[in-house]
Amino acid sequence: MRTATRQAPQEMKALQLAVGGARATAALRRGRLVQRRGLRPAPVQAVLEEIVTTEDERLRVAEVAAALDRRLARDFGSGSGSNGNGNGNGSAASAAATEQVVSPGDDDRTRFQLHWSVDMWQSFYPSKWVEGLDDPNTPVPDRIRQFTETLTNAVSTAGILGSSETARYWAYHLSRTGFFVVQGLAGLLASRASNGTDGPSPLLRSTRGVAGPLTEAMLMFYQDHELIKEGKYALPWDMTTSGHRQFNPLYVLQRSAAFLNEASQTLRRRGEGRNDPIWLKSGLLPDYYADGFHYQTDGWLSSRSAKVYETSTETLFVGRQDAMQRGTLVPLRDFMAGKDASQMTALEVAAGTGRFATYVKDNYPGLQLTVSDLSPFYLAEARSNMAYWKRMRAPDAQLGGVDGAGVTFLQTAAEKLDVPDNSQDIVYCVYLFHELPLSAQRAAAAEMARVVKPGGIVILTDSVQDGDRGAYQTLGNFGDFQEPFYRDYIKTPLGPMFEAAGLKCDMKLVGSSSKTLTFYKPAEDDKFAAAGTAQAAAQAAAQEVAVEGLQDE
Ligand SMILES: C[S@@+](CC[C@H](N)C(=O)[O-])C[C@H]1O[C@@H](n2cnc3c(N)ncnc32)[C@H](O)[C@@H]1O
Repeated sequence: MRTATRQAPQEMKALQLAVGGARATAALRRGRLVQRRGLRPAPVQAVLEEIVTTEDERLRVAEVAAALDRRLARDFGSGSGSNGNGNGNGSAASAAATEQVVSPGDDDRTRFQLHWSVDMWQSFYPSKWVEGLDDPNTPVPDRIRQFTETLTNAVSTAGILGSSETARYWAYHLSRTGFFVVQGLAGLLASRASNGTDGPSPLLRSTRGVAGPLTEAMLMFYQDHELIKEGKYALPWDMTTSGHRQFNPLYVLQRSAAFLNEASQTLRRRGEGRNDPIWLKSGLLPDYYADGFHYQTDGWLSSRSAKVYETSTETLFVGRQDAMQRGTLVPLRDFMAGKDASQMTALEVAAGTGRFATYVKDNYPGLQLTVSDLSPFYLAEARSNMAYWKRMRAPDAQLGGVDGAGVTFLQTAAEKLDVPDNSQDIVYCVYLFHELPLSAQRAAAAEMARVVKPGGIVILTDSVQDGDRGAYQTLGNFGDFQEPFYRDYIKTPLGPMFEAAGLKCDMKLVGSSSKTLTFYKPAEDDKFAAAGTAQAAAQAAAQEVAVEGLQDE
């Protein structure tokens, strides 16, 4: 009995490797993991089965399965660390595997517990939803009918009209997305007018160019709302707060005007394939940092850049960026279960304008949060965003800190955090790693591992990588947008990097263009096993499976 129990976690891992996440998830569910953690695949499972239908997707699934088999043979074959159940073909498979580069998506499957979203997005291919929309041979009325049918199906799948709360969620998010689509198109037109390009934009000509991101947004909202219903986090406070400035036409006009001005400059630079020089020279900043990332004016180094950042990125993602970032709140909720937030310390690394930090605070107002970034301009914007959150959401609460929000602002580099060892219960970081060269990524991972307490959690949310989205590959396109390290980033598995820093891999979640990876720092007395991580739950579930197996025998 002891042997079976000890081997069970490895067998669970082998299960994931052998059959892929969907069936492994089903098996894990049988092991009661899903009920325990709320990692509930239904009704998404039904959507999944419906949408994996094209030959392309089938081929991709077969490819992934073959890669997993090779990895299985390598990890569990005749090499050291085998549990003795190897299939005897270990060396041959091992040799083949050394030639095979394992994608980050496949590598994640060997290290992380997979949230239901992982397989959903792995199989989701938006073109299926908009196939034929651009086909000149299809008469326009048929295209419109097809698109309407797709929308109607989406509405019924998502249960949009299910309850007034659901209807409110969708009404808000659909109008928000509509706003960003119109703003994005206006940005393209403004750019073409001011930069003197003739003819309609290729994007405007392509219905799919708009419809693809829109279907991505719809599924992202579906997931976001499911997670809200599961109690992982609250409805977004910008949606529920009456009198929020985003509903003030004057405020919207100001932000839109700044965006349109910035968009034409950005697209001009992109068209010319060159950046304007950055105005500020400083030995205090790493060389790679003083760059006009995304062709944005002044890179990270001006208040003008900070003021337009949120509008620009949310326009780029047609309104789904907030929802993608909220994936970070899922492992946070699991970790916080049963804890008093006011006794917990958290550090956000590279927080930018601090928009996401306001969602964290809104879910855990008492949390003692340090918001850090390298740019003082972005930090100033973060401070102003946080002060606004405090004024609108917790005007009378005594939360401490400089502005009474229980937040400290810290200018520091991710690769050399000015934060004491073992001082943070929670360290999280959103959309930084794809902006860093590999050496800085490794240093940042090591720093996060250093400052988190034993038993604490590190959450990383960033762009999806190779192997995360099956046949749907849009990733290279971002690389064209002055993202000098992006192409290397999408090929680099992150699990091994954080393991090398001394952390353990825990859970993985995917949301459209983003993925969230969770790590924990083992506590000496393994108190963390009781702390509600996926790893701890998986071990417990594995033990149950083993025990049930023995009982069956
Ligand atoms: C893409 S933005 C993401 C901002 C924010 N986390 C969000 O999701 O909106 C990247 C941010 O990382 C910051 N950054 C880049 N390199 C950094 C480094 N080495 N250390 C700390 N911050 C850095 C930039 O100043 C910028 O604010």
